[in-house]
Amino acid sequence: MLNKLSIKIVLLFLFLGVNNSHSASEKMELIEQNWPFNGVFGRFDKSSLQRGYLVYKEVCASCHGLKHVSYRDLTGIGLTKDEIKSIAGEYILMDGPNDEGEMFEREAKPSDKFVNPYENDNQARLANNGAYPPDLSLMVKARAGGADYLFSLLNGYKDFPEDFEASDGMYYNEYYPGKQIAMPSPIMDDIVEYNDGTDATHVQIARDVTSFLAWTAEPELEERKSLGVKTLFFLILLTIMLLGVKRKVWKDVN
Ligand code: HEC
Repeated sequence: MLNKLSIKIVLLFLFLGVNNSHSASEKMELIEQNWPFNGVFGRFDKSSLQRGYLVYKEVCASCHGLKHVSYRDLTGIGLTKDEIKSIAGEYILMDGPNDEGEMFEREAKPSDKFVNPYENDNQARLANNGAYPPDLSLMVKARAGGADYLFSLLNGYKDFPEDFEASDGMYYNEYYPGKQIAMPSPIMDDIVEYNDGTDATHVQIARDVTSFLAWTAEPELEERKSLGVKTLFFLILLTIMLLGVKRKVWKDVN
């Protein structure tokens, strides 16, 4: 009796450990999505990641960096080495110093990290009305609510309510702390053109770019989860075997 109970407790803790869901309490209730990468058996949807990368590249990248991701990491979303080479070649970065002690510009290589849209933080602030557009590499991990928060934020723009004291150059967003944000709504229907036939609606774009940024925040999620599941099965098997052994060893003792 006691044994069964303790096994259940152990399994419960194991399950909680593997199921990495967020449980932070939110002020405004987030729009919850059924993400394919959530849950114990979570997997990324590669075509959504590729569409999301396109959105990042064509929309978000003019203001936000992805400094923890290198171009060659894009093999993880299913791009080929040649595609990655030509993507990297579109960007110019500052390298050096060379033998003469001088800095020089060169094309980015697949091994380089994503080139930042601004040369420094001050330039970034100047271009954005004093607000700093944060790096998005780890954003999904950095905010309570994770992917649901980002998705809600991208869908949370509204007109200012009449009694709201709006500051200059700010936009009303229900999900942003304080409800006003310096980022104008970055997406709208058809702001990108998908080449796989998917309808580029506002919601679809928000979903795809959120998936992509969930991937940049944890590219090794699939390995982690499948290791977790394997470990769980191994432990269950081990427990059953140990119970068998225990029965055998103690069978003659009363
Ligand atoms: C025109 C520049 C610009 C573009 C384009 C842009 N952003 Fe932003 N973004 C900003 C600025 C500025 C801030 C900081 C807002 C603030 O501090 O009020 C910000 C903040 C954010 C935040 C942080 C919110 C938080 O909780 O702190 C996220 C997430 C974000 N942007 C995502 C995106 C995504 C995804 C895209 C592309 C679909 C995008 N942004 C496109 C300028 C931009």
